[in-house]
Amino acid sequence: MRLAGCLLALMLLCAGGTQAAERELDDPNTIDVCLKCHDEPKVTGVLHGPHMSTADLRTHAGTIGCQNCHGDSTAHVARLDTGAVRPPPTRVFNGSRKSSVDVQNEACGGCHQGGSALHWQGSPHASADVACTSCHASHPVQDAVLAKATQAPVCFTCHADRRADALKPSHHPVLEGRMACGDCHNPHGSLGPNMLRGGTVNDTCLTCHDEKRGPFLWEHAPVQEQCTICHTPHGSVQMSLLRQRTPYLCQDCHDSSTHNSQPFSATNLPGGAVPGRQMVLRACLNCHGAIHGSNHPSGARFAR
Ligand code: HEC
Ligand code: HEC
Ligand code: HEC
Ligand code: HEC
Ligand code: HEC
Ligand code: HEC
Ligand code: HEC
Ligand code: HEC
Ligand code: HEC
Ligand code: HEC
Repeated sequence: MRLAGCLLALMLLCAGGTQAAERELDDPNTIDVCLKCHDEPKVTGVLHGPHMSTADLRTHAGTIGCQNCHGDSTAHVARLDTGAVRPPPTRVFNGSRKSSVDVQNEACGGCHQGGSALHWQGSPHASADVACTSCHASHPVQDAVLAKATQAPVCFTCHADRRADALKPSHHPVLEGRMACGDCHNPHGSLGPNMLRGGTVNDTCLTCHDEKRGPFLWEHAPVQEQCTICHTPHGSVQMSLLRQRTPYLCQDCHDSSTHNSQPFSATNLPGGAVPGRQMVLRACLNCHGAIHGSNHPSGARFAR
C-alpha cells in the first residue's frame, strides 16, 4: 500500500517534469531550446564565432540565432509520438538529410551579398552548384578556409590535381602556409578569367611581382602579353615554375635561323661532339639573363 502510494507519487512527479520540459521545447525561438538537445562540442563552437555574437544585433544570438541558418525549426522541436522520426529543420547543411544547394545557399546569401561575394551569381562555383558550406564550416570556432595555413586542403577536396602541382619542386609557398589559393583567386567569382583577383593574369601576378611590370627600355613581347606563356602558376618540375626547360621553352618561338638552336658543336673536343653553350646549364639564360626586359642601354638582346 505504502509502496503503491510511493510509485504513484513518483509517476506524477515524472509526468509533471516532462510536461514542463516539453512546454519549453515547443518554442523554437530561443537557442537555449536547441542547446538542450545539442550540447555537443561540434555544435557549440558556433556560440564563440561571429554568428552568435551578442554584440551584433544581426545575429539574433539569444533568440532565433540558430534558425538564421537552419530556418524554421518548429516541427523539429515539437513533441513527438513514440517511435516517430524527428523531422529535420528547414535547412540542413550536412549528413544524409542535407537540403538542396539552393536552399542552403539562400540561407547565407540572405546576409552575405556584395562585398567579396559580389560576383557569386554566375561564377564557376555557383554555376557548378557548389554550396557555400562546401568551403565554409559554420560550427567550428575556426573556419579552416579563412586561414592561409589551412585553406588549400579545403580546395584540394575537389581540386586534387592542384595538390599534386603544389608538391612539385618549384611551387608558390601554399603548402608552407605563406600564401593561399585565395591570394590569386577569389573563390566567390571575379571579373577576371579563372576567378583571378586581377582583371587579367598579369595584373594578378604583378600585384606581388611588381619588379617585372616595366615599362622597360627593351621589352620582351611575351612577358607583356601573359606571364603564363612561360610560367605555370601552380607547380612545375622545372626551375622557376617554368612550363619547359630552356632552351626548349625559348625555341617554341625562336627558330634555328641564328645561333640559338644548334644543339651540339664539336669545337672544343677533338673528335667528340659536346653540347653547345646554348644548350647546357641555363642554356639561353647563360647569356640572355634579363629575360623579363632590360633597362640597360645595350640590353636589346636581354643579355644585361
Ligand atoms: C528534443 C531534442 C531536440 C531539440 C530541442 C532540437 N533538436 Fe535538433 N536534432 C535532434 C535529434 C535527435 C537530431 C538527430 C536526428 C537524426 O539523426 O535523425 C537532431 C538533428 C538536428 C540537425 C541535423 C539534421 C539532420 O537531419 O542531420 C540540425 C541542423 C538540428 N537538429 C538543429 C536544431 C535546431 C536549430 C534546434 C533549435 C531550433 C534543434 N535542433 C532543437 C533533437 C533536437
Ligand atoms: C543572420 C545573418 C547571417 C546569416 C544567415 C549568415 N551569416 Fe555569416 N556572418 C554574419 C555576420 C553578422 C558576420 C560577422 C562579420 C560581418 O560583419 O560581416 C558573419 C561572418 C561570416 C564569415 C566570416 C567569419 C569570420 O570569422 O570572419 C563567414 C565566412 C560567414 N559569415 C559565412 C556564412 C555562411 C557560409 C552562411 C550560411 C551557412 C552564413 N554566413 C550565414 C551574418 C550572417
Ligand atoms: C570555393 C570555396 C568557397 C565557396 C564556395 C564560398 N566561399 Fe566564402 N570564402 C572562401 C575563402 C577562401 C574566403 C577567404 C577569402 C580571403 O582570404 O580573402 C572566403 C571568405 C568569405 C567571407 C569572409 C569575409 C569576406 O568577404 O572575405 C564570407 C562572409 C564568405 N566567404 C561568405 C560566403 C558565402 C555567403 C558563400 C556562398 C554564396 C561563400 N562564401 C562561398 C571560400 C569560399
Ligand atoms: C551561420 C549559419 C549557422 C548557424 C547560425 C547555426 N548553424 Fe548549425 N550548421 C550550419 C552548417 C553550415 C552545418 C554543417 C556543419 C558545419 O559546417 O559545421 C550545421 C550543422 C548543424 C548540426 C549537425 C551537426 C552534425 O555534424 O551532425 C546541428 C545539430 C546544428 N547545426 C545545430 C545548430 C544549433 C543548435 C545552432 C544554434 C546554437 C546552429 N546550428 C547555428 C550552419 C549554422
Ligand atoms: C600564383 C597565383 C595562383 C595561385 C596561388 C593559385 N592559382 Fe589557380 N590559377 C592561377 C592562374 C593564373 C590560372 C589560369 C590558368 C593557367 O593559366 O594555368 C589558374 C587556374 C586555376 C584553375 C582552373 C584552371 C585549371 O587549370 O584547372 C583552378 C581549378 C585553380 N587555379 C585552382 C587553384 C587552387 C585550388 C589553388 C590553391 C591550391 C590555386 N589555384 C592557387 C593562379 C594561381
Ligand atoms: C565542393 C567542391 C569544390 C571545392 C571545395 C572547391 N571547388 Fe573550385 N571548382 C569546383 C567546380 C565543380 C568547379 C567548376 C568545374 C571546373 O572547372 O572544374 C570549380 C572551378 C574552380 C576554378 C576554375 C574557374 C574557371 O574559370 O575555370 C577555380 C580557379 C577554383 N575552382 C578555385 C577553387 C579554390 C581556390 C577553392 C578553395 C578555396 C575551391 N576552388 C574549392 C568545385 C570545388
Ligand atoms: C600574393 C602574392 C603573389 C602573387 C599574386 C603571385 N606570386 Fe609568384 N611568388 C610569390 C611568393 C611569396 C613566391 C616565393 C618567393 C620566395 O620563395 O622567396 C613567389 C615565387 C614565384 C616564382 C619563382 C618560383 C621558384 O621556384 O623560384 C615565379 C616564377 C612566380 N612566383 C611567378 C608568378 C606568376 C606567373 C604569378 C601570376 C600567375 C604569380 N607569381 C603571382 C608571391 C606571389
Ligand atoms: C618568355 C618567357 C617568360 C615570360 C613570358 C615570363 N617569364 Fe618569368 N621567368 C622566365 C625565366 C626563363 C625565368 C628564370 C630566370 C632565371 O633563372 O634567370 C623566370 C623567372 C621568374 C621569376 C623568379 C626569378 C626572378 O627573376 O625573380 C619570377 C618571380 C617571374 N619569372 C615572374 C614573372 C612574371 C610576373 C611574369 C609576367 C609579368 C613573367 N615572369 C613572364 C621566363 C619568363
Ligand atoms: C611566346 C613566344 C616567345 C618565347 C617563348 C620567347 N620569346 Fe623571345 N621574343 C619573342 C618575341 C615576339 C620577340 C620580339 C621579336 C622582335 O621584336 O622581332 C622576342 C625577342 C627576344 C629577344 C630579342 C631579339 C630581338 O630581335 O630583339 C631575345 C634575345 C629573346 N627574345 C630571347 C628569348 C629567350 C632566351 C627565351 C627563353 C627564355 C625567349 N626569348 C622566349 C617571343 C618569345
Ligand atoms: C653564349 C651566349 C649566348 C647564348 C647561350 C645564347 N645567345 Fe642568343 N644572342 C647572344 C648574343 C651576343 C646576341 C646578339 C647578337 C647580335 O646582336 O648580333 C644574341 C641574339 C639573340 C637573338 C636575336 C636575334 C639574333 O639572332 O641576333 C635571339 C632571338 C636569341 N639570341 C635567342 C637565343 C636563344 C633562344 C638561345 C638559346 C637557345 C640563345 N639565344 C642563346 C648570345 C647568346
